[in-house]
Amino acid sequence: MNTPKRYLITSALPYANGPKHIGHLAGAYLPADIYTRYLRAQKREVVFVCGSDEHGAAITIQAIKEKTTPKEIVDKYHALLESNMKDLGISFDIYHRTSSPIHHETAQEFFTKLNNNGDLEIKESEQYFDEANNTFLADRYIIGTCPICSSDNAYGDQCEKCGASLSPEQLINPKSTLSGNTPSKKKTTHWYLPLNKHEDFLREWILESHQADWKTNVLGQCKSWIEAGLQPRAVTRDLDWGVKVPLKEAEGKVLYVWFDAPIGYISATKQWAINNNKDWKPYWEDKDTKLVHFIGKDNIVFHCIIFPIMLKLYGNILPDNVPSNEFMNLEGDKMSTSRGWSIEMEEYISDFVKKENGGDMMVDALRYYLTAIAPETKDSEFTWKGFQDALNSELVSIYGNFVNRTFVLMHKLCNGKVPPLHEEIIDESDKKLIVDIQHSKAAIEKSIESYKYRDALFEVIDLARKGNKYMQDKEPWIIAKQLDESGIPTKEAQQKIDNCLHCCLQLTANLAILINPFLPFTSKKLCFMMKVVDKMLDWENAGKFDLLSVGYSLRAPELLFRKMEDEEVTIQIQKLKEKSKKNMESAAGNPSDKIDNSIKEKKPIIQFEDFSKIDLKTGTIIAAEKVEKADKLLKLEVDLGSEKRTIVSGIALNYEPENIIGKKVVVVTNLSPRKMKGIESNGMILMAEENDGKLIFVSSDAANGSNVS
Ligand code: MF3
Ligand code: ZN
Repeated sequence: MNTPKRYLITSALPYANGPKHIGHLAGAYLPADIYTRYLRAQKREVVFVCGSDEHGAAITIQAIKEKTTPKEIVDKYHALLESNMKDLGISFDIYHRTSSPIHHETAQEFFTKLNNNGDLEIKESEQYFDEANNTFLADRYIIGTCPICSSDNAYGDQCEKCGASLSPEQLINPKSTLSGNTPSKKKTTHWYLPLNKHEDFLREWILESHQADWKTNVLGQCKSWIEAGLQPRAVTRDLDWGVKVPLKEAEGKVLYVWFDAPIGYISATKQWAINNNKDWKPYWEDKDTKLVHFIGKDNIVFHCIIFPIMLKLYGNILPDNVPSNEFMNLEGDKMSTSRGWSIEMEEYISDFVKKENGGDMMVDALRYYLTAIAPETKDSEFTWKGFQDALNSELVSIYGNFVNRTFVLMHKLCNGKVPPLHEEIIDESDKKLIVDIQHSKAAIEKSIESYKYRDALFEVIDLARKGNKYMQDKEPWIIAKQLDESGIPTKEAQQKIDNCLHCCLQLTANLAILINPFLPFTSKKLCFMMKVVDKMLDWENAGKFDLLSVGYSLRAPELLFRKMEDEEVTIQIQKLKEKSKKNMESAAGNPSDKIDNSIKEKKPIIQFEDFSKIDLKTGTIIAAEKVEKADKLLKLEVDLGSEKRTIVSGIALNYEPENIIGKKVVVVTNLSPRKMKGIESNGMILMAEENDGKLIFVSSDAANGSNVS
């Protein structure tokens, strides 16, 4: 394949609605950064663009949650995301934003051209409307029962439980998340992109011409979308937050967020060109540009089906590849910011990067582990123990150890200078080392260019492992014991030492080049130790064996990586559990949860006789203790006036025993006795369950033993 003239690399624009976690980093940002750094080292012309996605319901819903305006939300999180990405070494050429004027103009132009060319269809339809708030409801503002899995919390566009992609009409018992009311239907007009008209193009372009080079997970999703039959898709919405539809007759309408966001790649390129005095057009119009979109799997349809149709209609180039990753789970569960089961980039940075001197090494440590376990072909899993193992037994023990031993021995046995290579005594293992470097280089190139970063990184570590073996076999510290009469190593011994350390140093320089796309902070530090300029890291230098000149004096070794202690692992796991618990407790503040109650299934009507069978009495808790080997149970003593009862109640996760002594409660006193964990329970305490599962006592001030009816 010919080398393209230029590259345009994009990472999915993250919604500026909150912090982003390391799963996002591993999915769409880190791999793109590795690829871009590699291309830059290859001296290819490359631009790497990203930015905040600042429109859509993701933003307005967050504004409601935080009781502020959408504008404040995007300003706050845009700044956070930009700084997080920078701290983690993600080297965008521009981190733009879709709220910028240049983006609004670009997106409007795009819409106008398609509309003028007759590529869009206009249709009137009935859509859900919230009378109380006098507004049409975006898909995300409607929740109801999923027609597929019956989950109660499906959104109008998607069920997060079963993953089904839905339309609001499919929801059973829909409710507005704004008012909690059942929405009415109202007529409205929208512009549609008729995906169905482009089926032949998609089949040809994806299923035929990219059959061999796109990842199978991506092809699989595309195929099932196409086979399921493509439908016209609305590209406008009745909303006031977003890019205004540039038509007089479209008052109060904005472009659908998934129409404007990918155009953000174009507007970011434009802004980059302005900043750098370049021309943006070839990046989107010249066929000799290789466009690559890095995304997570939930973005596949937008980047492989919808946006390419838009690009084709507009007359732009199409992506050459869309190397989507699957998801990264965390300690046995799905990563989720809203559930608190996540490691936010910001958290990692403040715990490991900003706290310690030389925190950059912990950036590289994270980059290392995330790449080593990247979900390239299937979901993968981050565990703190796994992170510790990768750091301690690979980075520290293999790569760091090789470099450190080389530098220490060079200072000890070679006067701190690059020793000469004595041609006469070069042996097979020296030659093999050179060949190994060249093989590794070729293998790494091949893997990086085919988006296989795990394999590429493995090769680098494997080369360092070979370095350790080489040194271990040569044992220069043993050779150094062959002394002459004046007490220094003999000439032959010194020559052998020289050759060994010369080779190890040249290998170190090569390792710096090869690891640079992955762990840029480490490579920088190595350049400092070797007293070479960053230019040495140019990819063409890999495979050379004269990168460090003989006689050149080098600095003392620095610590490249530090070990992670068991205690740190424990602390992080603890922290994760606490955070997720706290999030569950405060989830009641979430508007989508608020209306749970109204949606919860109602029980069938009963007759008065049914109700009157239940004997309800007031009482006071006079003693409480935990039940052994039962996390949820408390054993209670309840004073019912004329008698005291033992009742076992499942409230231990909500209440500490000592805090409920003296609580007034209502008890079902004629429930047949039941044994739990060996204790006979005589009755049941009434509790009200809030949406997030929190239990609250149903209570009465009446004297103990009063009848409740
Ligand atoms: N904001 C979207 C998400 O987080 C991604 C947008 S990618 C773009 O899922 F192409 F639309 F920009
Ligand atoms: Zn479902």
